[in-house]
Amino acid sequence: TILILDFGSQYSHLITRRVREFGVYCEMLPCTQKIKELHFKPKGIILSGSPYSVYDEDAPRVDPDVFTLGIPVLGICYGLQEIAWNHSGSVVACNHREYGHAMLSVIKHADHPVVDRLFDGFDGDIEVWMSHGDQLSKLPTNFRIIGSTQTAPFAAIAHEEKLLFGIQFHPEVTHTPRGKEIIGNFVKSICECKTDWTMACYNNTKLGVGDLCIESFIDKEIERIRQIVGKDGEVVGAVSGGVDSTVAAKLMKEAIGDRFHAILVDNGVMRLNECATVHSYLHSHLKINLRVVDASDKFLSRLKGVTDPEKKRKIIGNTFIEVFEEEAAKIDEVTKKSGRKSIEYLLQGTLYPDVIESVSFKGPSAVIKTHHNVGGLLQDMKLKLIEPLRELFKGTCETMCLMVSLLANVAAALLHSWFSSNSITFGHALASSHLPICQKDEVRKLGKVLSLPDDLIYRHPFPGPGIAIRILGEVTPEQVAIARAADHIYIEEIKKAGLYREIAQAYAALLPVKAVGVMGDKRTYEQVIVLRAVETTDFMTADWYDFPRAILKKISNKIINEVKGVNRVVYDISSKPPATIEWY
Ligand code: XMP
Repeated sequence: TILILDFGSQYSHLITRRVREFGVYCEMLPCTQKIKELHFKPKGIILSGSPYSVYDEDAPRVDPDVFTLGIPVLGICYGLQEIAWNHSGSVVACNHREYGHAMLSVIKHADHPVVDRLFDGFDGDIEVWMSHGDQLSKLPTNFRIIGSTQTAPFAAIAHEEKLLFGIQFHPEVTHTPRGKEIIGNFVKSICECKTDWTMACYNNTKLGVGDLCIESFIDKEIERIRQIVGKDGEVVGAVSGGVDSTVAAKLMKEAIGDRFHAILVDNGVMRLNECATVHSYLHSHLKINLRVVDASDKFLSRLKGVTDPEKKRKIIGNTFIEVFEEEAAKIDEVTKKSGRKSIEYLLQGTLYPDVIESVSFKGPSAVIKTHHNVGGLLQDMKLKLIEPLRELFKGTCETMCLMVSLLANVAAALLHSWFSSNSITFGHALASSHLPICQKDEVRKLGKVLSLPDDLIYRHPFPGPGIAIRILGEVTPEQVAIARAADHIYIEEIKKAGLYREIAQAYAALLPVKAVGVMGDKRTYEQVIVLRAVETTDFMTADWYDFPRAILKKISNKIINEVKGVNRVVYDISSKPPATIEWY
């Protein structure tokens, strides 16, 4: 077993994933875990990254016993700094923060082969992904430098006798293309872990889970839902038109038919023709019992004059709850009148336990609070929660682990889509927290087995607060119309060029600045559209998509010619980090 000590990094789950992908069992525990109290003997320890600086007064600290066990330790980013901090190395805020791509020059030590093991199979430079504002200013005692970047001379270090390794970059993210090999070198060659950890559902496919296994899960889950809800129970749930909430809705439909009532709330900040599109997917195609509520006026009137993104999220979230409750009450009236039972359940996904653990060393986290917020909704509505995938967490046995992880992804995604729509102040935090485990590919695979149409399965994710967080400044009906029209042109052109599936997420944002332009012979002062398109698999790190020039040209011309109020189109070439995918 590899022990992963989590210092609250947004990437901690990815470390777990990568280690397990080698068939090595690992457990992630909060960084404050006392080594003496461990119920197993790890063969190696990985210290994750963290949003803290090691020199912060309230910085999370590892139990110093970690360094006396005599087993290999790998520190990633903050983990490296924590190793240094414990070995008289100095850590300082760096003059040149590094976010995004960097080249690490590997430094070999022919006479000390042990320290070379981490980068075994690598020669010269390695493309790595950095995300740090601190770095080592001094090599800790008895360590050797095994890699450096242009601005970080101690970007990778190792202690030969103690088998301590520290790297400043993140090998667990997909933007470190050969990061997995580095993790493999640590767990296989340095820790000498066996790679025989297999799971019943594991068939070594790219996604790790076979179709047959998904099918049998679906059957069991449908049966379980039927048992919980009974022959005459009624369930209500929100849908957003995204693949995640649709998968949940489809499972409910399969289990209890029209006794599941899906509600789609039009919040006035959705994409062009969105409600009609979702209606056609869910109602006409998947035969889901769907009610579309047009509450756009209510949302837009409450957004009037608001410019702060978090306030927008809060308004949209609270208004959503209000509208949803009203609609659920109306459905309840109708069902009761027709002699059926009152609505008893609310469909919802569940947090993957690791999401909570990853931030648990500081007590209740933002994520946990958001979960409580849903509790509030349940209390108000006096509904019981039905979480299609939750039971699987409870009996987690090792043979089910990968399946659980797949389902956890779906569950977390469902919760995400729920919060997306509900998105209170925490909307953004939650989005970020769940994403490391939300591998869209896996959710999509489940969608495929459930016969969701391809267009729906491959839709780019869309945030619950919608265009409101893509319009910087005040959200007015006029601004919504501009952002919507530009976004529509952009996405249609991407589709026509056959690039939609190559891109993980694309959208147009509207900047409320007026730039000068010339149209006809007249000067114009109009707004600016930003095009964003990113490549990513986990939405935790992302790179901008490199469009062929001709396509950008066509899109820009079309937007400027067809969307009134815009005289400039710019393309965003920032990676995440340091930027985020959304502008707000
Ligand atoms: P960022 O901007 O954090 O986005 O890089 C990562 C992913 O999260 C989505 N996102 C949101 N989704 N409510 C949501 O439902 C939100 O408030 C929100 N903010 C960001 C974003 O679209 C991307 O997929």
